[in-house]
Amino acid sequence: MRRPIRSFVRRAGRITLAQERALSTLWPRYGVDSVLYLEALFGRQAEKHLEIGFGRGEALVTMASNHPEHDYLGIDVHRPGIGHLLMEIEAAQLTNVRVMCADAVEVLQDCLPSQSLDAVYIFFPDPWHKKRHHKRRLIQPDFLKLLANRMKSGSYLHLATDWQEYAEYQLQVLEAAPEFINCTGGFAERSAERPLTKFEERGLRLGHRVWDLLYRHQ
Ligand SMILES: C[S@@+](CC[C@H](N)C(=O)[O-])C[C@H]1O[C@@H](n2cnc3c(N)ncnc32)[C@H](O)[C@@H]1O
Repeated sequence: MRRPIRSFVRRAGRITLAQERALSTLWPRYGVDSVLYLEALFGRQAEKHLEIGFGRGEALVTMASNHPEHDYLGIDVHRPGIGHLLMEIEAAQLTNVRVMCADAVEVLQDCLPSQSLDAVYIFFPDPWHKKRHHKRRLIQPDFLKLLANRMKSGSYLHLATDWQEYAEYQLQVLEAAPEFINCTGGFAERSAERPLTKFEERGLRLGHRVWDLLYRHQ
């Protein structure tokens, strides 16, 4: 069977002892391995927000701390980042965050029911800047179709990237997606609601610009 095209490479990466320990001790509390009935998972009726590719999880923790009335699911594949996020969740004693270590495309396909999400965040998805790698980019028409199906009517999709050509491509494919309405008529102003991550901070230090996109599901 042909291997599917993935939007990530599983980097070995350095993992600290504390992150490794968090993965083994905190995973049973905050980690999720299989099928999701989101209400059952969080044990309440509340808005369900999804962050795809949370990295070290700074944005997820900040959003979840600022909005205890919402529930947050984070999906990433990078184990050191997941270990870091688990420690942050534990330190902040957050009860409204759950974490998956998986390909978000597979989770959307196989685990999440349709019309189950109130908001989706994808901040700084890997730009795959070489032309021959563009097919690995997460934001593509087929992915948006799948995502739209899992989002509720009236829900929000917030994207950010510091790679201009990918930003323009995102705008182009979103404008062509009938399920999504642009909330701002083009790129959006940076919202104070979007927390600054180490990744973005480093980019800004290097002089990178950032493009935000904010869409509402029809
Ligand atoms: C460039 S980093 C940005 C991290 C974070 N959003 C930030 O702003 O600091 C992109 C992240 O997306 C994750 N990622 C890429 N494709 C993914 C997928 N299909 N499913 C889950 N995570 C993915 C990577 O592992 C990585 O952590």
